[in-house]
Amino acid sequence: MTTKRRSAAWYGKLDRDGFIHRSWMKNQGFPDHAFDGRPIIGICNTWSELTPCNSGLRDLAEGVKRGVWEAGGFPVEFPVMSLGETQMKPTAMLFRNLLAMDVEESIRAYGIDGVVLLGGCDKTTPGQLMGAASVDLPSIVVSSGPMLNGKWQGKDIGSGTDVWKFSEAVRAGEMTLQDFMAAESGMSRSKGVCMTMGTASTMASLVEAMGMSLPTNAALPAVDARRMALAHLTGKRIVEMVDEDIKPSDVLTKAAFINAIRANAAVGGSTNAVMHLLALAGRVGVELTLDDFEQGSDVPLLVNCMPSGDYLMEDFCYAGGMPVVLQELAGQGLLSASKTVLGGDIAAYAEGAECFNADVIRSFDNPVKPAAGLRVLRGNLAPLGAIVKPSAATDALLEHEGEAFVFENIEDMKANIDRDDLPVTPDTILVLKGCGPKGYPGMPEVGNMPIPKKLVQQGVRDMIRISDARMSGTAYGTVILHVAPEAQAGGNLALVKTGDRIRVSASAGQLELLVDAAELEARRAAWQPDAPHYTRGYAKLYIDHVLQADRGADLDFLVGKDTRPVTRESH
Ligand code: FES
Ligand code: MG
Repeated sequence: MTTKRRSAAWYGKLDRDGFIHRSWMKNQGFPDHAFDGRPIIGICNTWSELTPCNSGLRDLAEGVKRGVWEAGGFPVEFPVMSLGETQMKPTAMLFRNLLAMDVEESIRAYGIDGVVLLGGCDKTTPGQLMGAASVDLPSIVVSSGPMLNGKWQGKDIGSGTDVWKFSEAVRAGEMTLQDFMAAESGMSRSKGVCMTMGTASTMASLVEAMGMSLPTNAALPAVDARRMALAHLTGKRIVEMVDEDIKPSDVLTKAAFINAIRANAAVGGSTNAVMHLLALAGRVGVELTLDDFEQGSDVPLLVNCMPSGDYLMEDFCYAGGMPVVLQELAGQGLLSASKTVLGGDIAAYAEGAECFNADVIRSFDNPVKPAAGLRVLRGNLAPLGAIVKPSAATDALLEHEGEAFVFENIEDMKANIDRDDLPVTPDTILVLKGCGPKGYPGMPEVGNMPIPKKLVQQGVRDMIRISDARMSGTAYGTVILHVAPEAQAGGNLALVKTGDRIRVSASAGQLELLVDAAELEARRAAWQPDAPHYTRGYAKLYIDHVLQADRGADLDFLVGKDTRPVTRESH
């Protein structure tokens, strides 16, 4: 038996402790040679029937195991908390850091040498990466893969994106409730994650751009047999990675994050990527700030997928997927050298990719939109920053000054947004408070609040909305998000009153509340935070320790990593 492996400190010992570690594992029928010093590979699974997007991961785990055995490793699957974006209240984001803790502590406590992270749904990918990065054992991602394209009445419909469209159409009286209900079944017709470029596919695409999965992982449909083959190949690769000692800290360099930021622009990725990349960077100790996201702002939109374009993930896959995008970026000098899980550079990783549909994956000469990156806005309304996604916004509204109409919290918004006498016009700026990390808590995807019904009925489909919330990666509109500090933390957002004027300039990166300092001072003196909704358990821990959006809303005590060996035994 070798003693150099981490797992040898569990299974390589010839004493009472080794007996205990091996003997109980043998109750599953593993033979002696499983403990002969071969790499032990953890398969960290977020499979759950309450996370429908991850329901294919049980099958994929079997594929990974085949590959691990084939390469001479010993695969052991373990469950971690699963976060079902569409099922959890108040928001899955509240629990991303809890999943990260679960992943981190599971990896650290068990006798494994490397990890395959099986995730998919929005928060599962970042939660797993954050946890794995804080232990820093060799790690690689296999994603659920997208659902097949939604189909309804002979047309393609996209996860999320068409939900927002249909629900506005019902409110405008343009769609019957029967049709609305019927579209449900056609939208989600196979296993997998949202098949728009929502947060799940965005994060899978960025995982590929950072080189943390095998190439083509992001776009292969969940039910495509080639995904099972990819899982098998990933199982083989992680065994080699253990021998080559390729750790997250080797792959997740500053250059990898900048590549991800540029790739996020090129794919028209979710605003949520900002939160997750900032939090992940904090784990690996890479200095990444909101300003770094400006490095993506001139990158054109190449991937023509909803919500910023017309197609869906199946089309993206058949057009060639992420390797084509990475090659396009490389061709423009926008892909910085960075090591991948394959051991070589990211450029080699994407080499040989071919585009099979030039309308789905555009070239730099013929982009869907010329500059697609996120814009960071600052000003007295967001001293620590806010963001807007121009590719999903209305150009005319990106430079705008108007009067605020304020909702103090989500209940206020829901109770009043459809009032016939709501004093708003298309020029009004809707402001929503109390939806930040501490306030809601968990920073939910409510920033794309509905257009007031009276305006929807007049045909208005977009107006400026400002909040401390996030929005779904499948959503669109001129929505200013992640205002920091949030209202509940005493940011100036808390002080905005209906009738105040606000100036937005995406080109100048400005978000100004046009109220003088003395008046703001007076309002601040009279302001008090709301009593928290949660006073015990994890949610209390979260409220007490969550960082603001500019730090990715990680918990303050989770930033960084601890790679020390665990020396003490349980008996
Ligand atoms: Fe799970 Fe969209 S809700 S991926
Ligand atoms: Mg989401």
